[in-house]
Amino acid sequence: MRKAKVAVVVLLVAIMTMSFALTGCSSSRSSGSDSGDGAKSGDAKEDLVFITMPTEAEERWIKDGEELQKQIEDAGYKAELTFAQDKIEQQNSDIENAINKGAKIIIIGAKDGTAVGPAVEKAKEAGITVIAYDRLIMDTDAVDYYVTFQLEKVGVLEASYLIEKLGLEDGNKGPFNIELFTGSPDDNNAKYFFKGAWELLQPYFESGVLVSPSGKVTKDFTLDDWQDIAIDSWKMEKAQAEMESRLAKYGGGATHLDAVLSPYDGISKGVINAIEGQGLPWTPGTPDWPYITGQDAMTTALSDILIDKQGETVWKDTRVLAKKVAEVSVQILKGESVDAADTMNNNNIDVPSILLDSQSVTKNGESDASGTISVKEVVDSGYVTADEVGLK
Ligand code: BGC
Repeated sequence: MRKAKVAVVVLLVAIMTMSFALTGCSSSRSSGSDSGDGAKSGDAKEDLVFITMPTEAEERWIKDGEELQKQIEDAGYKAELTFAQDKIEQQNSDIENAINKGAKIIIIGAKDGTAVGPAVEKAKEAGITVIAYDRLIMDTDAVDYYVTFQLEKVGVLEASYLIEKLGLEDGNKGPFNIELFTGSPDDNNAKYFFKGAWELLQPYFESGVLVSPSGKVTKDFTLDDWQDIAIDSWKMEKAQAEMESRLAKYGGGATHLDAVLSPYDGISKGVINAIEGQGLPWTPGTPDWPYITGQDAMTTALSDILIDKQGETVWKDTRVLAKKVAEVSVQILKGESVDAADTMNNNNIDVPSILLDSQSVTKNGESDASGTISVKEVVDSGYVTADEVGLK
């Protein structure tokens, strides 16, 4: 029985590997809505919406992509979903593919917001509407719309959590030891997340209330230096290695670490692994353990919040983002006007933008930051299950 199960798994893995190789490493999921549902040629519902997400290695992009595809299909259109597996060339060839298939709209969660520019320009020349999904596409006029969450607010929520926990507004003078991380250097979002946080934290660095024993952030650090503390491709393993090397300055725990500004749950996990891996004498759930932030409400992070390893995450409900982008796509396909009230500059044009709201999540919703909710509330919304996060 067991052997049979193993054989099935091996076969499935082999099939998956083959299809992975055949699609040039990208992973593609086509909609079945073209399977003879009676739509005639020339019928608007024949229109293809092509979705390319940056990676399948991170939970949120799978959720984003699948929800988006579902929403577009539910509206009666064809949708094809691909993942670029964190590779610029793969995303460019996915976009070429969309052009060849005659897509009407391409929705792009960019792996690299700048490198994707030339491919996007070709799409534009082919008359395709380009929507930048979550991450802005830079340095080109070929992007029609940008839909994302308010970027700086993410950093504001993370920094506010740390400021509150360290009692900085109550006049606590520390000095407190903190390590700061930013996201991927090729992601415009990473800079904005940090901008929101840095504007709140910088005065405390200036006054010496906050210090980074690793020496990575000093009093004269500026927003423009954000790439000096960046983690390539937002990778957990890279964050872990970076944190391990920073911890060398903590003398095996003789110097205490009070807080970590992490911009993403995967990075937070890397930080936690580094602390635990070095066997430092700090215990989760006691005042010894540092306050650690995050973003995305990943299941691992929500679990870690429940056992006091991570303090906070910023939840951007990807269902809301996907719904909004699907709505915009349908409006475009129907030739209706799109209400994009904001703009974001991409170094070339002001891109018509829609900016959604996010929320801070802590174990029991305990925080003064307005709108903070508990892990249970995320579960109750149906975003994750109690089992997935270990909520009893
Ligand atoms: C997204 C974040 C995400 C990060 C890593 C950013 O562009 O806005 O939600 O945590 O990428 O995937």
